[in-house]
This record gives sequence, C-alpha cells and structure tokens, in this order.
Amino acid sequence: MTYIPSENRYEQMIYNRCGKSGIKLPAISLGLWQNFGGVNVFENCRKMARKAFDAGITHFDLANNYGPPPGSAEETFGQIMKKDFVPFRDEMIISTKAGYGMWSGPYGDFGSKKYLISSLDQSLKRMQLDYVDIFYHHRPDPETPIEETMAALDLIVRQGKALYIGISNYNADQTKKAMKVLKELGTPCLIHQPKYSMFERWVEGGLLDVLEDDGVGCIAFSPLAQGMLTNKYLKGIPEGSRASRHEFLRPEMITDVVLAKIKQLNQIAEGRNQTLAQMALAWILKDKRITSVLIGASSTEQLDDNLKTLKNLGFSKEELKNIESILV
Ligand SMILES: NC(=O)c1ccc[n+]([C@@H]2O[C@H](COP(=O)([O-])OP(=O)(O)OC[C@H]3O[C@@H](n4cnc5c(N)ncnc54)[C@H](OP(=O)(O)O)[C@@H]3O)[C@@H](O)[C@H]2O)c1
Repeated sequence: MTYIPSENRYEQMIYNRCGKSGIKLPAISLGLWQNFGGVNVFENCRKMARKAFDAGITHFDLANNYGPPPGSAEETFGQIMKKDFVPFRDEMIISTKAGYGMWSGPYGDFGSKKYLISSLDQSLKRMQLDYVDIFYHHRPDPETPIEETMAALDLIVRQGKALYIGISNYNADQTKKAMKVLKELGTPCLIHQPKYSMFERWVEGGLLDVLEDDGVGCIAFSPLAQGMLTNKYLKGIPEGSRASRHEFLRPEMITDVVLAKIKQLNQIAEGRNQTLAQMALAWILKDKRITSVLIGASSTEQLDDNLKTLKNLGFSKEELKNIESILV
C-alpha cells in the first residue's frame, strides 16, 4: 500500500537549530545501528521508520558498518526509501558515517581520504541515494593527519555527495583541531555526535562548551544507555533484549549498583508521570546546547513511549538535585 504520512507530523515534533547553522533537527532522531540489519524482520524496520516519520522525526542516522551484517542497515534503509520515502526525500535529513573497520586491507578503516571517499560511494549505493545530508567521520584516527581526513570531508561536500559534515567520538581537543581545519577549508563542521546519557557524562567536561563557542550542534547517541535507562531491565534481562544478545550491552554491565540507580531514577520518573525512558531523554534535552537525542528502538511501542517525552521536558530544581544525588 502506498505510504501516506500523517498530515500533522510537523505539529507533533519540536525542531531545534543545529548550532548556528541553517538546519533544524527534530528533538528526537532515530538511529539504525541495531534492529535494522539483515538479521531483522524487514516489515518491523519499515513500520518503525514510518512511525518515526509520521511523528515528525525527519532525521535518520546510519553508518557504513550498521547491521549486522555490516552495511545491511543501509540496505534496509535503501529499501524503505524506495518503497515509502522517495517522495519525501527533501523533508529528510539522512546521515551516514565511516571510521570503523568496514572491509579488509589497509583502506577499509579509520580516516584516510581513500577510505572515506570509497566508503561513502558504497553507502550511497546501498541506500539508493544521490547524496546524504550529513557525512560523519565516525572516530578520530591516531595516525592519519587530521588535515587529510578533514580535506576528504570538505571534498565530499564539494562533490555534492554530502551537504554537511560532522564528527563523532572526537574529544574536546581533537574537536577544536578538526573544527579549525574545516573552517579554513570553507566547510564548517555542522554537528558532533558523542555518547551522552545520565550514565555517560564525559561531554560535560569541556566538549559541549567547545561546540557552543563555535556554533556547532550536538546530537547525543545512546541517550538511553542502550536500554538501561528504561524500565526494561528492572526485573531481569528479557529474552531478545540487547543485553540478552551479549554484544554491545553485556549482562555484566547491569550490575547491582547500576540496577539500584535505575530503580531510584524510575521512582523519580513515576513522580513526574513519565516513564524512565522519557525522563532520561528529557534530562538530556534540558541542555540547550543539545540539538537532538539520537535514540534506537526495536518496536513501534518503544518509539511511542519515547516520543511522549516531548509532553514533559521541564524539571524542578528539586528533581534535578535528586537525580544528581543518584548519579554521583
Ligand atoms: N557515533 C557512534 O559511535 C554511535 C555509537 C552508537 C550509537 N550511535 C547512534 O545512536 C543511535 C542510538 O543508539 P542506541 O540504540 O544505543 O540508543 P539508546 O536509545 O540508548 O538504546 C536503544 C535501545 O534501548 C531500548 N529501548 C529504547 N526505547 C525503549 C523504551 N521506551 N522502553 C524500553 N526499551 C527501550 C531498545 O533495546 P532493545 O533492542 O533491547 O529492545 C533499543 O534498541 C544508533 O542507532 C546510532 O545511530 C552512534
């Protein structure tokens, strides 16, 4: 059946300006790292993508290696594009990345010009797109000169294969250097994508200030700590959950100490008439330097839950103090 998106989709979402750029991103964006691979059920992936777009989520985030197997999330997204989203391409911000190991040999990893240009060409084919809106260098490369990596990003924009450039997992000093080189080249950095959640707060130690000073946006990945900051693990590890798959979230990461924190945070969330997932997302969005929270989901029910975050974004001083006392 032909996909007709919800007519009032743009009234349901909040759009935040990305740093000092011309682009606005939805307060909640959808990432396809997990649950959109070749091993997943295509119709569920498609349902989630449609539900997201219907709710005003205009931004979909990918990377060359998302799957499993690597590359298959981009293929899935390409199929969804073709079936449902082609008429809406101009309403969407689609990103991809390169920086982690993708193919064997010396040219399939890190940050050389050879790798980045080849990888984006492959990504565009998999997604059946002419260009992406944002292309990221996925992680800093300790060996390639930053000038080479940034020149490759600049070239990609000049070639029209990406409209904007981002960096991910760069620390504050690396970010400063990258932004300086990009500015000199004439392709300013649009956005940084760091890991940021109640449980992972390294960005507060300098990165967010650096980004604000330069007018660069910030999209926080794994804002639910891969599902730990939801009610999912309150009563053990459910079958099929990320922790049960023993990959990126391993059961031993959900220690008794972590579980005790999750339970206390859940109580505060209940007091706010919110789920823990909603409170965890609102807590990140309270910082005006954050453009968007980049969530993952394995079902449309999770998306529904997370989207309700926007109904209650405010915190009292008391709530913030109580949350802080749990997080320390
Ligand atoms: N730049 C980078 O290096 C990098 C690294 C990692 C991620 N990312 C990006 O960030 C995106 C999000 O990462 P993430 O998936 O780790 O984010 P996350 O939002 O912290 O975790 C998503 C997982 O949490 C669970 N979940 C979500 N909503 C829920 C709800 N309402 N109730 C119960 N459980 C819920 C689901 O787990 P189950 O699957 O167990 O149901 C879901 O797969 C990725 O897709 C990717 O685009 C970027």
